[in-house]
Amino acid sequence: MLRIAIVGATGAVGRECLALLDGGIVPVERVVPVGSARSVGRDLGAEQALSLPLAPLVTVEELDPRDLDVAVFCAGADVSSREAERLADAGVLIVDNSSAFRMRPDVPLVVPQVNPGALAVRPASNLVANPNCSTIQMVRALQPLHELATLDSVVVATYQAASGGGVRGLEELAEGSRRILDDPGAQGEAGGRFGQPLPFSLVPEIGLQDDQGLTHEERKLVREPRKILGLPGLRVSATAVRVPVFHCHSEAVHVRLREPVTTAAVEKALAATEGLRVYTRSDSPSYPMPRSVFARPEDRALVHVGRIRVEPEDPRAVAVWVVADNLWVGAALNALQIVELSVKNGWLG
Ligand SMILES: NC(=O)c1ccc[n+]([C@@H]2O[C@H](COP(=O)([O-])OP(=O)(O)OC[C@H]3O[C@@H](n4cnc5c(N)ncnc54)[C@H](OP(=O)(O)O)[C@@H]3O)[C@@H](O)[C@H]2O)c1
Repeated sequence: MLRIAIVGATGAVGRECLALLDGGIVPVERVVPVGSARSVGRDLGAEQALSLPLAPLVTVEELDPRDLDVAVFCAGADVSSREAERLADAGVLIVDNSSAFRMRPDVPLVVPQVNPGALAVRPASNLVANPNCSTIQMVRALQPLHELATLDSVVVATYQAASGGGVRGLEELAEGSRRILDDPGAQGEAGGRFGQPLPFSLVPEIGLQDDQGLTHEERKLVREPRKILGLPGLRVSATAVRVPVFHCHSEAVHVRLREPVTTAAVEKALAATEGLRVYTRSDSPSYPMPRSVFARPEDRALVHVGRIRVEPEDPRAVAVWVVADNLWVGAALNALQIVELSVKNGWLG
């Protein structure tokens, strides 16, 4: 039975962490919700109708490491950089959703279905990083292709939902859409969570651009799969786009393999992979969409893959369309599956 803190419990990812704990993903003795000073006094148990053994909400500075086995951080990179190592140094296992520690050599970057071996032993740093949401769903689809015919290079375009921008991102899309429906002449303002107005538009820039013109999000899509898949030389080219969809990220993933393959072999490899739902041309529709991820409760936990095809002129070139719930598969569920695997491996709890 674990004593666990959810840092950022009032946020888009944190709320889903609490819901997944309420569903029993790992056995808990005590759950400590953590928020900013603004949220002290909020009763998240009542707000979310949870039946968890929930402590009162505290600030991160008030967390006592002696009362905790594990803390899941979902409050942004600033909070993680400032507070996570204090707890880790005192013996608390940190599972961090932010980008603060992902590329550190002493911090495993883990997708339990893809590189579970990274958690065979407890990291000396007591830090485990959860990858970027777009990276997670992509590597879950890439791994079976790599096992089938060895990845050579990847080109990906993402279509990322507003919930990737947290609670504020969801509010901005809802309010901005309503404003334009009420007054079609209304112009949104630059700034805000997405840099540019998102309603009825899209924004091909997620995070700041670096001096080579890549955005932060695109850099993550280039670097993180190399570490997770253990392929430091993998070439990845990414364009990350924010779209006016509330939930679920979609990706057009084009892969070049070392060996020629057939569409049937690719479909078979993907269908044999745990946690993927595969759509073939005999399905109607033959592709997943953000809304279809909510069709059945069990679908939220899966990575959905369709439009599977091998280029007619090049049997080493494969294209797939990948959709997943960024708040679950891309964040809360992956983080708690890291906790689950750590317990299963016998070094936590
Ligand atoms: N959204 C996604 O799809 C997604 C996917 C993968 C990873 N992530 C990562 O997960 C983290 C959270 O993202 P989100 O989308 O859930 O953001 P969010 O909805 O904006 O939530 C942010 C949370 O952080 C808390 N917080 C802010 N300042 C704090 C402080 N000084 N001390 C303690 N808590 C503080 C907020 O608490 P208050 O309510 O009290 O302000 C809130 O609970 C980020 O690092 C993000 O990059 C997000």
